[in-house]
Amino acid sequence: MSFTVAIDGPAASGKGTISRALAAHFGMLHLDTGLLYRAVGARVEAGEAPEAAARSLTQADLAREDLRSQAAASAASRVAAIPEVRAALLDFQRAFARAPEGAVLDGRDICTVICPGAEVKLYVTASPEVRADRRHAELVARGVDVTREEVLEDVLARDARDMGRADAPLVAAPDALVLDTSEMGIDEAVAAAIAEVVRVRGG
Ligand code: CDP
Repeated sequence: MSFTVAIDGPAASGKGTISRALAAHFGMLHLDTGLLYRAVGARVEAGEAPEAAARSLTQADLAREDLRSQAAASAASRVAAIPEVRAALLDFQRAFARAPEGAVLDGRDICTVICPGAEVKLYVTASPEVRADRRHAELVARGVDVTREEVLEDVLARDARDMGRADAPLVAAPDALVLDTSEMGIDEAVAAAIAEVVRVRGG
């Protein structure tokens, strides 16, 4: 029997950290679906057609070192607005969600489009300022030379593109539990997510 935890939310809301912690806690598999869009974006930047790139992603594409950059995030959010790209990535994500050990998927449209039947649905968010602070600290720790203002600008531009697109816009599913992590430490946010899984699944 599969068990799916679907997690959506905007950039740097903490959904990736929460997803990894949930998967580790319950022994489930984790898919960061943003990586799929980042990998497609990187290949499109190198000159490929978006749909062809999305249809032929390999493990090596997903393992690229440069996918965590701001440029890759921005390229991802541009290709993510193309319906054919989203359609090409759909079956892989749905199949992953049915892993027998259970699966945690995080992204922008997991609760609304990819796994509307997921047993647990979370929408993880935080104010743009808090998200920009977090992403800025993360980038600086990795040695990236970027100002907080530049990061905030990028976060706001991506929010607008992700929430404003016609196909699978970022929105909280009506039946998702909203976790606003603006004032929460990561431990508290992870504990709240674990509590929700335990409530639905039992112990
Ligand atoms: O970690 P962060 O939230 O900054 O980025 P990400 O989750 O890796 O997503 C990068 C971009 O991919 C987003 O800005 C979205 O445009 C797109 N994306 C999407 O459209 N649908 C998903 N399920 C996941 C990501």
